[in-house]
Parts: sequence; structure tokens; C-alpha cells
Amino acid sequence: MQTNKNINEMKKSFATKGVFPHKWAFTLLFPLRNIILSSRELIKRLDLKEHYSVLEVGPGPGFFSVPVAKKLKKGKLYLADIQPEMLAYAKKRLRKRKIENVEYYLCNGKTFDFDDDFFDIIFLVTVLGEVENKEAYIKEFARILKSDGVVSVTELAGDPDKMSIEELCTLFEKHNFVMSAKYGNKRNFTVTFRRKNGN
Ligand SMILES: C[S@@+](CC[C@H](N)C(=O)[O-])C[C@H]1O[C@@H](n2cnc3c(N)ncnc32)[C@H](O)[C@@H]1O
Repeated sequence: MQTNKNINEMKKSFATKGVFPHKWAFTLLFPLRNIILSSRELIKRLDLKEHYSVLEVGPGPGFFSVPVAKKLKKGKLYLADIQPEMLAYAKKRLRKRKIENVEYYLCNGKTFDFDDDFFDIIFLVTVLGEVENKEAYIKEFARILKSDGVVSVTELAGDPDKMSIEELCTLFEKHNFVMSAKYGNKRNFTVTFRRKNGN
């Protein structure tokens, strides 16, 4: 039966490492996700101020982008994804809600076309494990982040690409970041990194 075939295909995709297929983007919008991590909790962890410039890397269809953009009353949210289909999906959702303080940016997988010292916060939710060239991304984060800015990484159980807190610390410390906050537990967590000595 076609339905069973689709369900099996979906299960296989979810268990496979690599870039999350845009075909299944709608599954990232299931309200049940709020039980594991609500947008209210994420916003608390990000410690957002309304004037901030914020970069969300890998927003997918924008589950967290809508509440984050709403919070940035005098600021701006930049959404950067490697799949144009994901960006288009997010754009449609945000525009439908008349959210205009957002820019959309298609990633090339290595560099970001933003000025130095630009962002107050860069955040990623279940993304970094999928990023092929993690080292290049962290280097770029160090460049485009303000000296007192932070990178917030959230990882959730069930993601085949999930990184551990230890792996994240090793990766970030290599690029002169230090962990400054940790929320949640080993299964579902957010860790925040600052540049060492604000450098
Ligand atoms: C599992 S989805 C998570 C989406 C969203 N953060 C959420 O929690 O609903 C991972 C997202 O990261 C994006 N992604 C994967 N590799 C990327 C890269 N190198 N640069 C930017 N985005 C990337 C995928 O296209 C996808 O939209």
C-alpha cells in the first residue's frame, strides 16, 4: 500500500544521517515538539533582547523562527539554510504571519556573507551535526559574532546527527570559544559558547 511505503520511507529518512530532507519539512512543525523543547523555553535560553541581530542557521521551515522574530521587536532575524526549499517554506510561514524583520540567506556550506562583528546571537537547533564542514562554520561564527556575542547550540534526542556536549566543547574550544551556559539534560540540551576573553 502507498501509505505504508511512505511511512517506511519517512522512518528511514529520520534514521539516516545527513541533511534533513526538505520533503519532510512539515514534520518539523508538529506542535508535539513543544513537549521536548517549547519556543518559550528556547527564547529563555537564548536570553534575547528586542534590539538584537540574530542569525539562525538551519531554520528548516521555521518552527522556532516565528516566535524568535516576534521577540525581536527592534532587531532582526537572519535565516540561513543550505536548502532553498527550506528557506522558501520558512519565508512563506513568516510572511503569512506578517513578520517582516527577517532576511533569508542561502548557505554555501563554508562561508557566510556577513560583516565581521555583526551578530549578537547565532543559534542552531538540531543542525550542527548535519553540517559537513563544521570547522569552517565555527571559524565563520567567530568572525561574524560581536565580541560579547554568543553561539547557542541545541541538540535533541532522536536526531541521528545529534552531537554530545563533549563533542561540542572540543569543537568550539579548538576555535577559542568557551562554554558559558548549559540547559536541559544529556538527552535534550542547549549549550552556549562565548569567545574566550571576548577575542
Ligand atoms: C533537522 S533540521 C532542523 C530545522 C530547525 N532547526 C528545527 O529545529 O525545526 C536541520 C536543518 O539544517 C539545515 N542544514 C543542514 N546542513 C546545513 C548547512 N551546512 N548550512 C545551513 N543549514 C544546514 C537543513 O537544511 C535543515 O533545514
